[in-house]
Amino acid sequence: MDKVYITRKIPGDVLAYLAAHCSYELWPEEDMPVPRAVLLEKVRPVRGLYTLLTDRIDEEVFHAAPDLKVVANMAVGYDNIDLAQARARGILVTNTPDVLTDATADLTMALMLMTARRVLEANHVLLAGGWRTWSPMFMAGLDVHGRTLGIVGLGRIGRAVAKRARGFDMDVLYYSRTRRPAVEQELGLTYCPLAELLARSDIVTLHTNLTGEAHHLIGEAELALMKKEAILINTARGAVVDEKALYRALVAGQIWGAGLDVFEEEPVPPVHPLVSLPNVVALPHIGSATVSTRTAMAMLAAQNLVLALEGQVPPNLVGG
Ligand code: NAP
Ligand code: GLV
Repeated sequence: MDKVYITRKIPGDVLAYLAAHCSYELWPEEDMPVPRAVLLEKVRPVRGLYTLLTDRIDEEVFHAAPDLKVVANMAVGYDNIDLAQARARGILVTNTPDVLTDATADLTMALMLMTARRVLEANHVLLAGGWRTWSPMFMAGLDVHGRTLGIVGLGRIGRAVAKRARGFDMDVLYYSRTRRPAVEQELGLTYCPLAELLARSDIVTLHTNLTGEAHHLIGEAELALMKKEAILINTARGAVVDEKALYRALVAGQIWGAGLDVFEEEPVPPVHPLVSLPNVVALPHIGSATVSTRTAMAMLAAQNLVLALEGQVPPNLVGG
């Protein structure tokens, strides 16, 4: 049986499936990524590697694993894996698209509502004894319904967010690498260049994958184009935004608020300039975190791994 290393504890039924197809070893901690030295040791004999987005899979790992045939990432994003190095060595890389699209789009809507309606702040005020009476402008925030939403990156999650925005009677603009006329027509979206989208939107939500060109796609110049009452939502990857520039824009009141599920360096410590701002809602990268979605992701990654080891083309091959 092919040897496989799994970099974190995953659901029992997924392990049972893997046990029927390969001989695996796993890093048993749930709350801590596998230490680098352990990873480099454990990959030596394996043909399959089951990874999470917290694992940096680069040349050093590939070098340590001469027999490696496939890396199955339990995430749709695969910016943690050096794809060029994998390709050069003939190693397959797979991800877990589609099964997490709706859960991530739901969380994106939650962040929009939490940020615009000051939901966390209001909860903290109540818990601190600050709710004395109903008062006309007490905890007044911004509307989400009927506002203009700008979607950056019209892929699977971007489209799922666009669908939800229709239910909130929002006007939806989008900017993406590839223009999608059929989707524009189906969902009633308006394409515009990034600068125009930033200037016109009340809420800007980011859904690009993290490639070299998407790194710091939203920086000082882009934030300066946004409205003073605009909100930035990021459930894509932290590095799509220049966090230092975002911090300055929020402190200066250049934009109104931000809802962030992802950060340039994760995990973010509890005392951190950006997440400590009152106009920021920060979440610990939970976009796809529902029980059913995470279970489906775990199983899909396992199926990709097994198919690749069997010499078949896995359905979610990336960069191939
Ligand atoms: P996807 O279907 O590949 O969509 C990504 C979209 O972004 C594509 O339409 C792509 O254009 C576009 N794009 C890429 N680079 C761009 C750029 N520089 N400028 C403009 N558009 C660009 O991926 P998805 O399934 O929607 O997932 C998107 C990302 O969300 C993932 O890669 C992951 O990083 C993140 N994510 C986060 C969570 C979370 O827990 N917070 C959960 C799931 C996913 P093309 O159509 O031309 O390729
Ligand atoms: C989560 O961030 C993913 O890429 O699946």
